[in-house]
Amino acid sequence: MPVRLDPIEAPPSLDLLGPLGPEIAPLFTRPFLVLHRASELYTARICLLLLFDLGWETRLRSGVTLDDLCEGLAPQARKPLAWMLPFLATADLLVAEEGRYVLRGLPDLDLADIRAAVDIEAPGHATNFDLLDGVRSHIQPFFTEGKDGDALLFDLALFPLWLAYFRNGNLGYFPNNLLTLLALREGLPPGARVLELGGGAGSFAQLVAQQGTEEGWLGRIAEYRFTDVAPTFLRRAQRNLAAAAPSLPLAFQALDLNRPLAAQGIAPASLDAIVGINVLHVAQDLEATLRDLRGHLKPGGRLVIGECLKPSLDTPLYLEFFFNFIKAFTSVKLDPRWRPRHGFLTPEAWDEALGHAGFTGIQHVPPPRPLMDRHPSFTVGAITAMP
Ligand SMILES: C[S@@+](CC[C@H](N)C(=O)[O-])C[C@H]1O[C@@H](n2cnc3c(N)ncnc32)[C@H](O)[C@@H]1O
Repeated sequence: MPVRLDPIEAPPSLDLLGPLGPEIAPLFTRPFLVLHRASELYTARICLLLLFDLGWETRLRSGVTLDDLCEGLAPQARKPLAWMLPFLATADLLVAEEGRYVLRGLPDLDLADIRAAVDIEAPGHATNFDLLDGVRSHIQPFFTEGKDGDALLFDLALFPLWLAYFRNGNLGYFPNNLLTLLALREGLPPGARVLELGGGAGSFAQLVAQQGTEEGWLGRIAEYRFTDVAPTFLRRAQRNLAAAAPSLPLAFQALDLNRPLAAQGIAPASLDAIVGINVLHVAQDLEATLRDLRGHLKPGGRLVIGECLKPSLDTPLYLEFFFNFIKAFTSVKLDPRWRPRHGFLTPEAWDEALGHAGFTGIQHVPPPRPLMDRHPSFTVGAITAMP
């Protein structure tokens, strides 16, 4: 039986969405809002089921602290668990009592009923749930044997599910790309040289080609340099992107944002736009990376980033479930002033980080407040900044 996901929040009114509101409002369809709610609920149930798989149900029933749970586990287990326990408390699956987390009663952990509801209201998104199931079934050795999270999450069985996730057809992911595209499009000069960081499955480049052609601005791009640190993604893009993103003037190269761009063949002050969707938060030293990127933008050029955004630094986002197993996501240099946490940040924390690295003219698409305060499903945005 499909689970009742209602009440589903109402879409935001246009006045909350800023000057590009008419192009952003269509994102907030009922299927999008249902998928968001369902993904949150599914992730919470998967999280608790994973703790049961690990054999901890009895301990959770008597109540545990984070320290109790981490005892005897590989040290890398701490960060995901430090996220999972409060997340489960916000999802009402555990009760938080003075630093202890307690499981009470018999929570509903049915997954099929969530899938059934999404099948009716947002068909075609089962792979998002397959990915969560896949993480649950593959990740146990991360806790029990200290195995590397990246290797477990990106093995051959799960890789196709990631590719299916990072698609413009995925209502849950598409807003990342659309908002960044709107931000990039504004102020793109003729003859623009654009570099994409962490281009991954190539869905953003495809959207640029498609929408740029339809709207008649693609000709303003003289070079679109698609880069990624991962050879698998890069090779795949080289094979497929020319056909999937016709008329985009593509160049390809391997590029690691944790190494100086000059050492990787990018000339200083040579780019009109550097764009990155959900990648900058993995910068090991965000300050150093932002300063380096700034030095490679022409005067008047722009850094354009799409990021998952948190309403507050302490609010767990369901998407963090996956990423907390990835070393690049969790092992970053922190500074309480401009890099307060690992992973996703608030819009204000991004402003601090960008301003500290010397960027000016920082703008958000859409303006994140009060939108994020009133609409909990809004957890993504684009930010542009000038050198
Ligand atoms: C969340 S995915 C972004 C997906 C991409 N925008 C898409 O639509 O497919 C992050 C991407 O960043 C890449 N990445 C991770 N660490 C990186 C680094 N140090 N330098 C450059 N790219 C990196 C990953 O290989 C992955 O393709």
